[in-house]
Amino acid sequence: MTRAVIVGATGAVGEDLRRIMVERQLPVDEVRLVASPRSVGRRVPFGDGELEVQALAPGAFDGAAVAFFSAGGGVSREWAPAAAARGAVVVDNSSAWRMHPQVPLVDADVNPAAALDHPLGIVANPNCTTLTITPVLACLRDLAGLVAITPTSFQAAGGSGQQGMEELAEQTAKLAGERDLLRRGGRPEALPEGRVFPRPLAFNVVPQCMGFDESGYTVEELKLRNEPRKILGLPDLASHPTCVRVPVMVGHSVSVRAVCERPVDLAALRERLAGAPGVTVAGDPAGYPTPLEVAGTDGVFVGRVRADLADPCAVLFWSVADNLRKGAALNAVQIGEALLAAGA
Ligand code: A2P
Repeated sequence: MTRAVIVGATGAVGEDLRRIMVERQLPVDEVRLVASPRSVGRRVPFGDGELEVQALAPGAFDGAAVAFFSAGGGVSREWAPAAAARGAVVVDNSSAWRMHPQVPLVDADVNPAAALDHPLGIVANPNCTTLTITPVLACLRDLAGLVAITPTSFQAAGGSGQQGMEELAEQTAKLAGERDLLRRGGRPEALPEGRVFPRPLAFNVVPQCMGFDESGYTVEELKLRNEPRKILGLPDLASHPTCVRVPVMVGHSVSVRAVCERPVDLAALRERLAGAPGVTVAGDPAGYPTPLEVAGTDGVFVGRVRADLADPCAVLFWSVADNLRKGAALNAVQIGEALLAAGA
């Protein structure tokens, strides 16, 4: 009997985890759904039926081969070791374990083998913005020796879970009623108060994803600097990140300038991208992907691949992925598949 557990099964990523496990027929006989005390006893859809949500307790992990965690860093920090102690391999979607030296950080399309070396019984799923660019960066690394990146993200509200999407929907409905005022450059008297985002997100862009650290960078920007280094095995990769929240429900976009050791042959890069697992590349400049069109699909979509106008060793590209699927649930399920195939 092979069991899997989803912790955070009622959340935005949890919902996609449930769906993708069924779609891809993850080879398990039983699935247990776990969420916060307020959801215990609720029945939620799973495949053609429903499953009852259970409480987070050590016994939930008994007999589990794999446990997917997507309930925030606090829950993962406290409960991932408990799940591992009960024999489950944890695939953790939070940032709690990503930079731990004994925890592999895995993009299933870039460094899948790393998932099998997990001394603590924990494998970390990268941040959704990181996963939007790592397959492209891996191609550049292999083709021309990657040395520096300047990624600027355009991140969806869904990166902040169900509550983030709810806040954007509420603010959009409210401000749509003020469209004449907005059109004149006027400022509504009462801008919507946010609980999730630091400023109004509807009809706006906000250059802050998560809190700031003392360097003046946000926590999200530091993840976008550190995580590709670990996944790509390039500890010295220079990175100059800016993360921006945009009024999009689902789908993160990233504009990147990448500098290599050697001049980049664009035709060779496009060919490599076309053959890279999980990557779809647009040849036509006007065939670029957008988040609204990419949401709900798998993989990473790349367009606007072009040469830097000043430096032959540099290229620019635009990359989009569904932050809840490839950016979280799909990659986690892919890691789960690799673990189960290896006898987790
Ligand atoms: P619940 O729905 O009961 O609050 P999102 O990222 O979309 O906000 O989802 C977070 C997920 O993590 C939800 O499934 C939420 O359950 C779950 N969660 C939050 N806190 C806990 C907790 N302390 N124990 C277990 N699950 C939790």
